[in-house]
Amino acid sequence: MSISDDVCLTGIKGFDDYLGGVPRGSLIVIMGHPGAGKTTFAAKFLYEGARRFGERGLYIGFGEPERKFKKFMKDLGMDFEVLEREGMIKLVTLPAIASRDAAEMLTETVVRTVNGFRPKRLVIDNLPAVVDVLGDVAGRAFLRTTLYNILTREDITAIVISDMYRGEKRLVIPSVEVVADGVIVMKAEVRGGMIVRKLIIEKMKGKRMPVVEVPFSLVKGEGVIVFAPPLTYEIPAPRFTSSIKLKCESLHRALGPIYVGSQIVICTPIGMALPPEAIIPFLKAVVEEGIKVLMISLTNPSISMWCRIENPARKYGVDMSKLRDLIEIMSFNPAAYSVTKLMSTIIAEVESRKPDVLVLHGLEALNTLCPPREFMSFYLNIITRFRKMSLTTIYMVSSNITDEISLMVNAGDIVLAVSAPTTIRGGYSVRIDILKSYLGEPRAVFTDQLKECLGKESFR
Ligand SMILES: Nc1ncnc2c1ncn2[C@@H]1O[C@H](COP(=O)(O)OP(=O)(O)O)[C@@H](O)[C@H]1O
Ligand SMILES: [Mg+2]
Repeated sequence: MSISDDVCLTGIKGFDDYLGGVPRGSLIVIMGHPGAGKTTFAAKFLYEGARRFGERGLYIGFGEPERKFKKFMKDLGMDFEVLEREGMIKLVTLPAIASRDAAEMLTETVVRTVNGFRPKRLVIDNLPAVVDVLGDVAGRAFLRTTLYNILTREDITAIVISDMYRGEKRLVIPSVEVVADGVIVMKAEVRGGMIVRKLIIEKMKGKRMPVVEVPFSLVKGEGVIVFAPPLTYEIPAPRFTSSIKLKCESLHRALGPIYVGSQIVICTPIGMALPPEAIIPFLKAVVEEGIKVLMISLTNPSISMWCRIENPARKYGVDMSKLRDLIEIMSFNPAAYSVTKLMSTIIAEVESRKPDVLVLHGLEALNTLCPPREFMSFYLNIITRFRKMSLTTIYMVSSNITDEISLMVNAGDIVLAVSAPTTIRGGYSVRIDILKSYLGEPRAVFTDQLKECLGKESFR
């Protein structure tokens, strides 16, 4: 994404991808109930502006003590103290004492601070507090002067926050909404006992928005992640030059190349783990090539996932200490998260750990827990995001291929369907159907014919 002079990137994950930033010099009003995430959103806008784009940011807050603001934002991954020391951020928290002279004093303080500090980004948090402090008439006068000062400066992009109280539909000072270039309403709804956050972009000058209601999430260490649907044409092709080579010639030949950035779907029968003939060639590739793997299970604790890896790995002599360094396993209980929260948690983990390969295990849990439409949009959003990131991802689903998951299966670049074990040629074998691969033709392999892939059993 190139940054032109008339665009101001917020630095908020997902938001800029979707809107391409906001017009520079614009005034954006964010309104919503207390706790919706307005302050966090605005803080992230200032924080990233300073940190990533070298733009000075001024925060003018009413009521909430600076110390609390800083602590809360630090938990959300934003260290304002450092930026303040570097002179990139200025926090001005104004006292909640009302007096006759306050309005004039505040106006003067703000105008002086804006003129002296010359911020590129400004946040006023929030309107009802201004009115509480200054009273209705003085509050309006203050805002008019301040906003006028902001509006006449084409280089300041501003967010003005307004709390709305339950039952209230609009702003305390409606004229602000009229002069604003953008209006965003934030909502935190309780659904199924969980908080679901969304932002509704009611107005954004000069922007075409296919979807105006987009979920977002507040995430520890990251702040805000917005889940606007990624627009598919921005997706790069998988890196056809680099691929992951499984350490098993016959499996590799049947499967074809696994290009970096591929999205791989593996369906296994209910209750069945992947056979070692499929796991070991992957684990050997991990160890030999130094592939960093993050595994996230939605159904099993990490210890049980480890056993499934460790036992066959030990049996077939894969270097365990290397494996431990390269594979990280986490588990999330999908019943404890809303879909957007789960998605943002996964994305935040991926972005902080930066694995070469992500394994998402137990996706059928989500399929059961949430309505089909919600599950599919979770999946499509996540698969598109990982494609854009060129992150090779393996989606493991314990399910037969039914209509319910057909979209999920179809969206994969490589699709494997594992069958239940059958007795064959005097032993037992598991049939793995390669329904889709870059070879362009479906194939099947039988694990009893893949014994060479396991190598010698090493009893230790
Ligand atoms: N680490 C966190 N992860 C997710 N949500 C959090 C975290 N810390 C605080 N929150 C939530 O953030 C909300 C407060 O956000 P804030 O931006 O102050 O809202 P607003 O300014 O709209 O009142 C609270 O509802 C709180 O539950
Ligand atoms: Mg707030």
